[in-house]
Amino acid sequence: MLQGKNAIITGARRGIGKAVVEVFAKNGANIWACAKNFDDDFEAEMVKLAEKYKVQIWPVYFDLLDENQIKAGVSEIKKQNNQIDVLVNVAGIADESTSFVMSPLEKMKKVFDINFWGGTLLTQYVARLMMRNQTGNIIHISSVAGIDGILGQYEYVASKAAVNGAGVRQLARELWQYGIRVNGVAPGIVETRMGGQISDSLKRETLQHVIMQREGKPEEIANVVAFLASDLSSYMTGQIIRVDGGM
Ligand SMILES: NC(=O)c1ccc[n+]([C@@H]2O[C@H](COP(=O)([O-])OP(=O)(O)OC[C@H]3O[C@@H](n4cnc5c(N)ncnc54)[C@H](OP(=O)(O)O)[C@@H]3O)[C@@H](O)[C@H]2O)c1
Repeated sequence: MLQGKNAIITGARRGIGKAVVEVFAKNGANIWACAKNFDDDFEAEMVKLAEKYKVQIWPVYFDLLDENQIKAGVSEIKKQNNQIDVLVNVAGIADESTSFVMSPLEKMKKVFDINFWGGTLLTQYVARLMMRNQTGNIIHISSVAGIDGILGQYEYVASKAAVNGAGVRQLARELWQYGIRVNGVAPGIVETRMGGQISDSLKRETLQHVIMQREGKPEEIANVVAFLASDLSSYMTGQIIRVDGGM
């Protein structure tokens, strides 16, 4: 489905990002797998995956809180001189749930800085490169929380609502003139480290409203991302696809 496409994927070391790397590799994409810090195990894992699926995977390291690191990461990618076809912004954090009235602004800003501004900056640098080729495909991993809200997660909801509104809806309008499509995937609760941060009681309560009555698996999110990254979705832009088991 993605044969010959070159994709940048953030948050590649674990969770949904790792699943996106695997599904993309399985479907023939070459990948810049981005993680926050250098990690021997991650390097070895990427070599194994590349061999298994006969694609190329290049690990790249940058912290989304650090503009200089993002810039350096994109320069490294640029040096290879390969066309960048797809950017998947997966990396993100959620802090522990706190009542809105008791949430310090600094704590809230950090979540917003990573989930929105970090991804925004990376998207800006990469979109400039895609514009040169008059083609590209950007996919943001948002969250149903950015549409419906979730108790005790004011800053997370704000960051994902910003991703939906500005990152997807607005950028789809701005970037189509350069042949770039922009879409979002909004997962419900997914079995990852972040999914594990949700308290058992909130999870039980939320799952009661999920038609399929279970959490999603990272690869179930990754499969939808692969569809959006492929030409099978060629008439789609500006869409936020809920992948939530039916909420
Ligand atoms: N799990 C869920 O229930 C759920 C539901 C809806 C949406 N989402 C969204 O899905 C995305 C992936 O989350 P996940 O569930 O896979 O969680 P996860 O397992 O906690 O993974 C988070 C990823 O984000 C990366 N990251 C965090 N801070 C970073 C930073 N400052 N710079 C660069 N990378 C950073 C981590 O990189 P390192 O490993 O290199 O530290 C990690 O790969 C997030 O955007 C999240 O909001 C998750």
